[in-house]
Amino acid sequence: MPEIIELVTADQVPLGTVKRFEINDLAVAIIHTDEGFFALEDRCSHADVALSEGELEGCLLECWLHGSAFDIRTGEPQSLPALTPVATFPVTIDSQGTLSVTI
Ligand code: FES
Repeated sequence: MPEIIELVTADQVPLGTVKRFEINDLAVAIIHTDEGFFALEDRCSHADVALSEGELEGCLLECWLHGSAFDIRTGEPQSLPALTPVATFPVTIDSQGTLSVTI
């Protein structure tokens, strides 16, 4: 059953940044772009490295190790060598500005 996890206030993830959170055994990257906030599993599907340490350009997050770029809206890789999408999670922000992710 999906669980809603409160993480931080939205202003703690400034525009253009990526922050990593550990939720039990799951690493989640919260990303703030011009299109809003997004969450995806913070683990490249090509090898087990953190995507949050990569480069964010628009809605693409590029893995620092071999350069696959993932669309943060869908988790789909847009370039090789990764072939498999990474999981994405819904993000909500309540009236107090608290950012939550549903996992
Ligand atoms: S580990 Fe990310 S592209 Fe290879």
